[in-house]
Formats: sequence, structure tokens, C-alpha cells
Amino acid sequence: MEVETPQDPQAFWEEFYRTRRTGSAGKPSAMLVRYAADLPAGAALDLGASHGDDVLWLAERGWQATGIDISETALERARQRARDLGLGARARFEVRDLAAGLPEGGFDLITALYFQSPVELPRPAILRAAAARVAPGGHILVVAHAAAPPWAGDMAKHAQFPTVASELEALDCDPTRWTVLMASVVEREGTGPDGIKAQLRDTVVLARRNREN
Ligand SMILES: C[S@@+](CC[C@H](N)C(=O)[O-])C[C@H]1O[C@@H](n2cnc3c(N)ncnc32)[C@H](O)[C@@H]1O
Repeated sequence: MEVETPQDPQAFWEEFYRTRRTGSAGKPSAMLVRYAADLPAGAALDLGASHGDDVLWLAERGWQATGIDISETALERARQRARDLGLGARARFEVRDLAAGLPEGGFDLITALYFQSPVELPRPAILRAAAARVAPGGHILVVAHAAAPPWAGDMAKHAQFPTVASELEALDCDPTRWTVLMASVVEREGTGPDGIKAQLRDTVVLARRNREN
């Protein structure tokens, strides 16, 4: 018998964090480290921040970082970790449904790392709105599963798996205003919840907003 899961995004993700993912990975996304380590610190916004691993990594490196997520449970854990690490002044977390709007800009870095969902998520519209909030000279980094990890189970059921072309279309990076620094599918080794390793494919787009526009 199939267990019924809530379809309302807020209810779905609350249940997910209360019952299925109850602890943080304790480390940032490898793709964030790979592509953001050399960017000069400023104001950062992370979409779908979960337990805050990426926001905390940015805050440790001097960024004033804000993580947004629809799940209060996930963000309360993120806030506690920020306090434990003494990063409360540089790492902020805000519960918000990004489908209803984003915080005002301008950010020096906006990240959307595996911001994917098996329930309703107007992801392309959110990414486009995010790009509009990047300050001149700032960057947007979008990383997505290009295919479901082997351990994804029902999380893969209705999730979207973007291609490079669909990500660029969503971001609508007008070449007179943006420089696309990276747009590619990248392989990496990933580790599943039970420690099993697999080669995973990520769609990665990194773009810089030109200063003169
Ligand atoms: C697949 S998880 C990825 C989390 C994290 N960025 C990572 O790399 O592990 C997607 C996250 O997006 C959040 N999310 C889904 N829909 C959302 C929405 N409409 N507004 C804000 N956050 C949302 C979920 O609660 C979840 O934490």
C-alpha cells in the first residue's frame, strides 16, 4: 500500500524534515566549494537552504549570508547550528515560500543548490526573479541534479531534472547584462544516506552580472 504524502509544499517539506531528514550533512555542497571559494565575500542569498550547511560555510568565509526555506523545522536547526558555531551575526535564516516572492536585492551571490522538489515548485520563475536580484558584479550559481541519485526513491517521482539549456532559459541571462562563466553537466562522487557511493551528474550554471549594466 502506498503511503500518502502531503502535496502542499509547506506541509510536504515540514513532514520531510520532521520524519525523514532529521539531521544536517554537516558540510557544504561540493559544488558550492568548487565554484564559490574564490568569490569575494559580500551579501549572499541561498534558496532552499535546508539545515544551513551552505549558508554557514559562506558565513565562515566572511559572507553576510541569508538562507531561505519553506520549512521552519529545517531552519530552526540551521539557526541553532549558527549559534553553536558563533556565526549568528553573519548567518540569517528566513522562513518563506519563494513561490510567493523573494527578498529585495541586491546580492553579490545568489545560490540555488539542488533546489528541486517532488511537489509544486515554480522553479524557473523563482530563478528568473533571483537573477533580477543580483547586484552588478555579483554572481548566481545554480546547481541541480541532472538525474535522480540512485537513493532518491519517491523524492524523484515528480521532481524536475533540468538541462543546461532549460537552466539558461529559466535564468534568461541577456548577454549584454550577463557573462555566463560556466554552463555544463559535471560529474561528482556522491554519498547516499546509508553511506553508498555513486557517480552523480549535476547541471551547473555560474553567471556574473556585468558591472556596466
Ligand atoms: C532538495 S532540497 C535541497 C536543500 C539544500 N539546498 C541542499 O543542497 O541540500 C530543496 C529545499 O528547498 C526547500 N523548498 C522547497 N520548496 C520551497 C519553496 N516554495 N520556498 C522555499 N523553499 C522551498 C525545501 O524545504 C528543501 O529544503
